[in-house]
Amino acid sequence: MKFGETIYTPEVSAGLAVSKKENHIPKIEAPDSVRAGEPFEVKIKIVNHPNTVQHSFRWIELYFYEDGRDFNPIFVARAELVPEISEQEATFKMKIQKSGKIYVLAYCNLHGVWENRKNIVIK
Ligand SMILES: [Fe+2]
Repeated sequence: MKFGETIYTPEVSAGLAVSKKENHIPKIEAPDSVRAGEPFEVKIKIVNHPNTVQHSFRWIELYFYEDGRDFNPIFVARAELVPEISEQEATFKMKIQKSGKIYVLAYCNLHGVWENRKNIVIK
């Protein structure tokens, strides 16, 4: 199995039983369009998931896939989460020069790496 195939993308997770019991797909709040070079917020939340030492999300990462760039994605930010004390969410501020897609990866210690994505275009 290729490493990329171990990630629970929205397409893969749609058919999984675990996704019905708990919500593992990170929710993304970000603008649909922004001005080039103008900072904007990306809010990421894990909703209705346990937050215990035995079972919790441990980190959230944000990447940007820039349209037309030779090599993608660009790493943007990472939040380390501690069970019980950290809320399972993160807010990052970023700016882009070209349209593209943000990718969020979030790691649950029992259920692996979960992905979500959102297009952002330059106004
Ligand atoms: Fe989990």
